[in-house]
This record gives sequence, C-alpha cells and structure tokens, in this order.
Amino acid sequence: MLSPPVGLPLLGSELARVQPVGAGRLLHRAHPGVEPAGRGAQGVRFEWADALNLPYDDGRFDAVTVGFGVRNLADLDRGLAEMSRVLKPGGRLVVLEITQPTRPPLSLFFSLWFDRIVPLLGAFSSNPEAYRYLPESVRNFPSPLGLAQKLEAAGLERIRYTILAGGIIAIHSAVKESAA
Ligand SMILES: C[S@@+](CC[C@H](N)C(=O)[O-])C[C@H]1O[C@@H](n2cnc3c(N)ncnc32)[C@H](O)[C@@H]1O
Repeated sequence: MLSPPVGLPLLGSELARVQPVGAGRLLHRAHPGVEPAGRGAQGVRFEWADALNLPYDDGRFDAVTVGFGVRNLADLDRGLAEMSRVLKPGGRLVVLEITQPTRPPLSLFFSLWFDRIVPLLGAFSSNPEAYRYLPESVRNFPSPLGLAQKLEAAGLERIRYTILAGGIIAIHSAVKESAA
C-alpha cells in the first residue's frame, strides 16, 4: 500500500480500515465484532497496479508499506527498486514479511511444519501446488540481513529490522536516500 501525501497511519487495524478488500477479515482479527467503517478513509484512492512496474512518478509518496507481499514478487530486487523509486527522498518504506527462524525451538518446529506437515496437508487439498509454494517461497526468501542488504542496494538507508513472533516475522524499516 502506498501512502499519499495526506499522511496515513500504517499497518494494523488502521490499514485494514482503508483496504476495500479483506478489510473485514483483518479488522475482525484485530478487533472482533468491529466492522469496517465505510468504504475507506477520506483522501485515499484505491488502485490496482503491478508492483514490478508501478504507474507513478519518481518521488511521489511519503511512505510505502507492504505486508506479506514482497515474498511473492517474481523479481524481488525490481519490486524493491520500484518502491524506492516512488518514495520521496527521506520517505519511509516498511516491509512486513515471514522469515525463517534460526534458533531452536522455533527453527525445529518451523522445519517440521513446513517440510513435513504443510506438504502432507497439501495431499488432501484440491490445490496441492499451493502447499508446496508456501514453504518454497519462505525458504527462497532472503534472511533479514539479506533483505536489509537488498534494501540498501535499492537506494534506501537507515535500515532497521525487528524480528517478531519467536523469529518467524520480520519488519524492515528504511528511508529513501536524500538527494545529494
Ligand atoms: C501472500 S499474498 C498476501 C496478500 C495480502 N498482503 C495479505 O496479507 O492478505 C501476496 C500477494 O501478492 C500479490 N502479488 C504478487 N506479485 C505481484 C505484483 N507484481 N504486483 C502486485 N501484486 C503482486 C499476489 O497476487 C498475492 O495476492
């Protein structure tokens, strides 16, 4: 999601509030019983676009955020470069994504879950490919440090990341380099 210059709160239930699709589901998780208010926050326009080829001018946005999305891009470097391109100098990018835990006990559970149980569940599904894709996409995704290096290569700086949920989720925050 791209935040226009009007300025928006990011992520969580506030992000859910402005999402036309899935807002109910996300809000329900955050605040059971609360319904999405209206069709979106004022000043927010919804547009579909290819994340690898964003139809926006350079330096247009104050902030860009993506939750559980960059792992699925066919070309991660290009997606990061596009998000960086549309940010204003000094603008912030925040990326929320699944990552692989490296320390036991969660690393052991993660391996058991993704290598054994998820493919097994797929055998009972009408779409077993989806159950192979998820573990593969997580395994092929860079480590938190690797993603930080890619963000730097995309022209971002002041990169920080936080590992959450016992090591299975990472939030990266980075700032677009200011013009020299
Ligand atoms: C794991 S899903 C997550 C969707 C959503 N962020 C959520 O949390 O429910 C990843 C999404 O990325 C989308 N996607 C993959 N490549 C894309 C691209 N080049 N441009 C836009 N969306 C893309 C897929 O269609 C898919 O809906």
